Amino acid sequence: MDFLIAKDDLHRTRFAEAAPPELQDGQALLTVDAFGLTANNITYAVFGQAMSYWSFFPAEEGWGRMPVWGFAEVAESRHDAVAVGMRVYGYLPASSELVVSPGRVDASGFIDASVHRSELPPVYNAYLRVEADPVYDADTEDQQMLLRPLFFTSYLIEDFLTDSGLFGASTAVLSSASSKTASALAFLLAGRPGIEVVGLTSPRSVEFTRALEVYDRVVAYEDVDALPDQRAVYVDMAGDAALRDAVHEHYGERLAHSAVVGATHHDRMGELPDSLKGPRPLFFFAPDQARKRTEDWGRKGLEQRLADAWRGYVQWTRGWLEVIHGEGPEELERAYLDLLDGRIDPAKAHVLSIAR
Ligand SMILES: NC(=O)c1ccc[n+]([C@@H]2O[C@H](COP(=O)([O-])OP(=O)(O)OC[C@H]3O[C@@H](n4cnc5c(N)ncnc54)[C@H](OP(=O)(O)O)[C@@H]3O)[C@@H](O)[C@H]2O)c1
Repeated sequence: MDFLIAKDDLHRTRFAEAAPPELQDGQALLTVDAFGLTANNITYAVFGQAMSYWSFFPAEEGWGRMPVWGFAEVAESRHDAVAVGMRVYGYLPASSELVVSPGRVDASGFIDASVHRSELPPVYNAYLRVEADPVYDADTEDQQMLLRPLFFTSYLIEDFLTDSGLFGASTAVLSSASSKTASALAFLLAGRPGIEVVGLTSPRSVEFTRALEVYDRVVAYEDVDALPDQRAVYVDMAGDAALRDAVHEHYGERLAHSAVVGATHHDRMGELPDSLKGPRPLFFFAPDQARKRTEDWGRKGLEQRLADAWRGYVQWTRGWLEVIHGEGPEELERAYLDLLDGRIDPAKAHVLSIAR
């Protein structure tokens, strides 16, 4: 069964059931066990066309299969090196099954070498065998599904910013500060001396964001004038054009770098005005920084660094993140529509399964 989203109207959804697929030689069938759902997955849908997120898991004309991160098991295999029962973590559709064509199979898992995925960033095509994954821990499967891609992005942003000497700034301003990606970045930056980490958030999330205790200061969106005056970098997870313009206006030439990371407020995006003060915002694409660090440190070196940083982070999230488990099409659709419309409690997150 597939959860399908109309590409021209993200509020129009349906479920489609198909006959069990016939595997070709060299293919394997994964059954999707469970996956996490956060605003990040909504961003995959919002940018489905523009950034090819719809291309990972093709569907019938006009419809998209939203990518999610989760666990799956090999249910059938016509590939000599991929055994039935292998459990993997990776990029999956919000479906009950996925046919893959494993290439480069090794102890750590395999790459889906399906032709339609060959031009897409490799980091999304890897399926990690849980026994060989340095991050895997049976007790934190929920956190891996929900937070791993967000934390890894934040790790790479933090690495990029500190490697750049914070562009000479002493303040980091993070929008959508209550989101998991932003708070993970604040968690990492909080360990760096000499940086004031400021969170910008919705008025209703100010208290929650302060209570996370990873921001030196939390400012509501309408109080941009209250941001500190020192030279700053802006990391934008909100995607709200008016907010971006206000932050640029506040800092002007004292804005050392402006990074576009997300769009939790995707209904408030807008064109870049020519008159924007300060530097032009630059898109931060995590797979690009991952590729750079893979070249510098090797694949294993990067994985080990990430795994080491991950443990302390997960422990911290246990203190505030409540995981809500849902099963079946109705619960999946409700959770998706709630997220799409911004009905999000930042202290909660969904782990879902399409099958009951
Ligand atoms: N570039 C990359 O490689 C990359 C990788 C990972 C994540 N990201 C992006 O980072 C962003 C955050 O993702 P996430 O999964 O961490 O998000 P999340 O934890 O699910 O956060 C959702 C946030 O959305 C905001 N929001 C927007 N509209 C709202 C509304 N009407 N009511 C309540 N809250 C609303 C809230 O933050 P505030 O109130 O604080 O605004 C809320 O905390 C996403 O856009 C994601 O795509 C990008």
